[in-house]
Amino acid sequence: MTPISKNIVLLPGDGIGPEVIGAAVQLLSDCAAEFGHRFEMAEFPAGGNAIDAFGTPLPAETLDACRAADAVLLGAVGGPRWDELPVGKRPESGLLGLRKGLELYANVRPVRLREPLRNISPLKASRATKIDLEIVRELAGGIYFGARRIEQLEGGASRAEDTESYSTGEIERIARYAFARAESRSKHLSSVDKANVLASSALWRKTVADLAADYPAVTLDHLYVDNAAMQLVLRPQQFDVILASNMFGDILSDAAAGLAGSIGLIPSMSCGSGPPLYEPIHGSAPTLAGKDRACPIGAVLCVSMMLRESFDLPMEADCIESAVDRVLARGFRTPDIAEAGSQVVSCTRLVASIRAEMQAAVEHLERYGWGV
Ligand code: IPM
Ligand code: MG
Repeated sequence: MTPISKNIVLLPGDGIGPEVIGAAVQLLSDCAAEFGHRFEMAEFPAGGNAIDAFGTPLPAETLDACRAADAVLLGAVGGPRWDELPVGKRPESGLLGLRKGLELYANVRPVRLREPLRNISPLKASRATKIDLEIVRELAGGIYFGARRIEQLEGGASRAEDTESYSTGEIERIARYAFARAESRSKHLSSVDKANVLASSALWRKTVADLAADYPAVTLDHLYVDNAAMQLVLRPQQFDVILASNMFGDILSDAAAGLAGSIGLIPSMSCGSGPPLYEPIHGSAPTLAGKDRACPIGAVLCVSMMLRESFDLPMEADCIESAVDRVLARGFRTPDIAEAGSQVVSCTRLVASIRAEMQAAVEHLERYGWGV
C-alpha cells in the first residue's frame, strides 16, 4: 500500500449540498487517517451562494481551482431563491459552465438496488430481481448547450427555442467511453435515442452502430427513449450499460434512481480532459435543507467512486461501500429510504454509523490481513 497525496476541491453549493459534502469530507478524512493518505481539501463557492456573494454562479477563481485539482466534489446547486432568474443566469448554469469548462463529456451514474434496500424499491420483488446498471450520459453537448432563443410575438406571446445538436465526433467519444465501460462489466451496451423522429438521434444511432465492430465482445442494442423508460420499469435487470444523450440520460437516471429506492443514493462521476467531477445526482432539495434529514449516501458513494475510479484505491472504496451496506442492513435510515421497522435517524447520525462501521472494517483488515 502506497499512501497517496491528492488535492480535492469541494463545491458544497446550495440547499442540502453543504450537509452532504460535510459527510463526504468526514469519510475522506477518516480514509486519510486510517490508510495514511493525504487529502488536501479546499472549499469554493458555486451555484446560488456564489450568485449572492459574487454575482455569478461560477466565479473564475472557482473554475481555476477546479482546473488545478486532482478531483472535484460538488454537493448540489439551485433553490427557490434564484428561481426567478432567467435561464443562463441561474445556479444551474454554473454547474453547466463547470462541466463545459472542465470539458467533462462523460457522466457515469451507477444505479444498484442494494440488498438491504430491496423492499423499498417501488418495483415488486419479482420485477426488481437485480438492478445493477450504469448510465453513461453525454455531458458536454446536446440540447443543454445548443443554441437557445426566445422571441417576442405579436399580442404579448413569445416563442422559445432550444437546439439538440450532435456531431459525429461528439457521439464517437462518448460511445467509445460507454463501450469501454461495458467491456469492463457485463459486456452489454444499450444505446438510447429517438432515431424514428430526430435527425440528431439518427446520427447518434448510426455512429454508435458503426463503432460496434471495434468492440466485438460487447453486445450492442438500440432502444428508443420511450421504450427505454418502459423497459427500465418492466425489466431493469436486462440493462448493463445504458448510453444516452445529455437530456435522455438526465431523465432516465432519475427514473432508474427511483427504482433503486431513492435519488439520494446515487453518485456520479464526470470525466473528460479536465479533472474528474463527482456529484450525487440529487438536487439541492430546498425543503430538506438545514433539517439534518438529507440522505448522505449519494455523496458518500461519490467518495468511494472517487477513490476507486480516480485514485486507484479499491480497498478503501470497498471499506466505505461495505460500511454503507452494513448500516443499511442494521435498519438505520434517513426518512427517504425508511421502511417499516427501520430506525429513522438524522443525516449526521447515519454518517456517524457509517464511520463507525468503516472503522470496524479497517480494524478487521488490520487484524486479519489486507488481502490481495
Ligand atoms: C443532474 C441535474 C442537472 C442536470 C441540473 C441541476 C442542471 O438534474 O445532474 O442530473 O440537468 O444535468
Ligand atoms: Mg438530473
